[in-house]
Amino acid sequence: MTAATRLSNVEILISASEIARRVTALAETIVTKLPPDLMIVSLLRGSFVFTADLIRALHLAGAKNGIRPQIDFMTLASYGAQATSSGSVQIVRDLTQSVEGRHVLIVDDILESGRTLTFARDLIKQRGAASIKIAVLLEKPGKRKMPIDADFVGFTIPDKFAVGYGLDYGNYYRELPFIGVVEVS
Ligand code: IMP
Ligand code: MG
Repeated sequence: MTAATRLSNVEILISASEIARRVTALAETIVTKLPPDLMIVSLLRGSFVFTADLIRALHLAGAKNGIRPQIDFMTLASYGAQATSSGSVQIVRDLTQSVEGRHVLIVDDILESGRTLTFARDLIKQRGAASIKIAVLLEKPGKRKMPIDADFVGFTIPDKFAVGYGLDYGNYYRELPFIGVVEVS
């Protein structure tokens, strides 16, 4: 199977170079707004590619404010293998470090209903974080079921199912260097 046939049902929405430019711009904004001793909480699995690029962009952008983030991961599940939200969020794997008294930046792939990020934010708040901000690569407007917004947004996208750059459909397509859309049933 060639790469072209493997991806015949994926339409490119945002190219790799557009993503790179936007991640750099986001990092430049983030370093002016947040303290250098950040705790980054990356929500797995969808945000691992975005987080990996964002922390390096933060390093490059943060020469002046001396940013030195710590990174931790939490696996939350709300979708399972389907493309429709099950409505409840569960911790599949928890953080390894305490967030008490820390300035936390939660990083996620996409803000849709807002259930995942509401759950993560409330949990981290309950655990005594000093401050909490949210950065998402993508957001879909008009889909929110919870009153939550991200402080830093990469791209606002139409109401289609996005894959690539860490985002999946049935745990496939995460490796794509661009963001594409697929038809889901
Ligand atoms: P929310 O809880 O509905 O805001 O959805 C957040 C989670 O659902 C994200 O972290 C993704 O894992 C998943 N999700 C929502 N929309 C998409 C999409 O278009 N493509 C891939 N995953 C998505
Ligand atoms: Mg996710």
